[in-house]
Amino acid sequence: MAGVPLDGKKISAQILEELKPRIAALPRPPALAVVLVGDNPASQIYVRNKIKACHDLGIRSMEFRPSGDISTECLLETLSGLARDRSIDGILVQMALPPQIDTERVMSFVVDPSRDVDGFGPTSLGLLVANKPGPRACTPAGVMELLKRYNIPIAGKHAVVVGRSDIVGKPMALMLLHANATVTICHSRTRNLAEECRRADILVAAIGQPALITAEHIKPGAVIIDVGMNRLTDATIVESLFEHDDFRLASFAKTGSTLVGDVAPLPMQALSSFYTPVPGGVGPLTIAMLMANTVQLAEQHQ
Ligand code: GUN
Repeated sequence: MAGVPLDGKKISAQILEELKPRIAALPRPPALAVVLVGDNPASQIYVRNKIKACHDLGIRSMEFRPSGDISTECLLETLSGLARDRSIDGILVQMALPPQIDTERVMSFVVDPSRDVDGFGPTSLGLLVANKPGPRACTPAGVMELLKRYNIPIAGKHAVVVGRSDIVGKPMALMLLHANATVTICHSRTRNLAEECRRADILVAAIGQPALITAEHIKPGAVIIDVGMNRLTDATIVESLFEHDDFRLASFAKTGSTLVGDVAPLPMQALSSFYTPVPGGVGPLTIAMLMANTVQLAEQHQ
């Protein structure tokens, strides 16, 4: 029997709807500062969607766009200016940053967790490790919300997280651990990835490589969370991955590109019990959780 798709758009809409009365109850609208360095096309789309979500909800957003050749020092100065502005509830620096920037220093910058809307700063990470309240990274927090709202049990399950990024893999593993899963983290140096993944009741793929996870990685009946979002333009690859999906092939023929996750779509749908489609699974939740974090910080400030 085919797996049930987890509808990220529906859950995201629910989360955003629940935020509306909380925003209306505040003396002033929450305010989010978004910093986008350079002109990476994917980052531009993410930021545009974040700003649109703010607009739709009545959250005040401010966009800062330093040029792509800015130095780490100058970027940190810009962030210091924002951090001094008490009318701003949350500060977000869109990742990934250009190569000359010391990403680790930038991610460590928003040290005041009361403005760390992405939960990337060291204090927020410490709170996550200790399982204490604090802002949580939006994508893994969205995955937890999705599992919760679909009543998918986590306690006692074996969760395998593929990918150890600071943004998704590491916080995801900790959140699953705090929900009492037995957690394995796999990465580029893991031996026999397929064997590790086949032990997963809950498999989270956050690698950033198109369709790396295939049938040999999946235990039948597993819950599969595909965090990947990879753009494909090669017709041969698209045809082999989506041979079962006429709708997708037609849309590829029209636009010349399509999105695929880190999991091959056909085995994911055929072998899982539940799975997140790409697009429309995890993606919409990242923005919903960013809005939720912004509102929560605003409530604390006001
Ligand atoms: N790049 C990919 N995911 C994220 C995210 O959740 N926040 C930020 N700031 N950048 C990202």
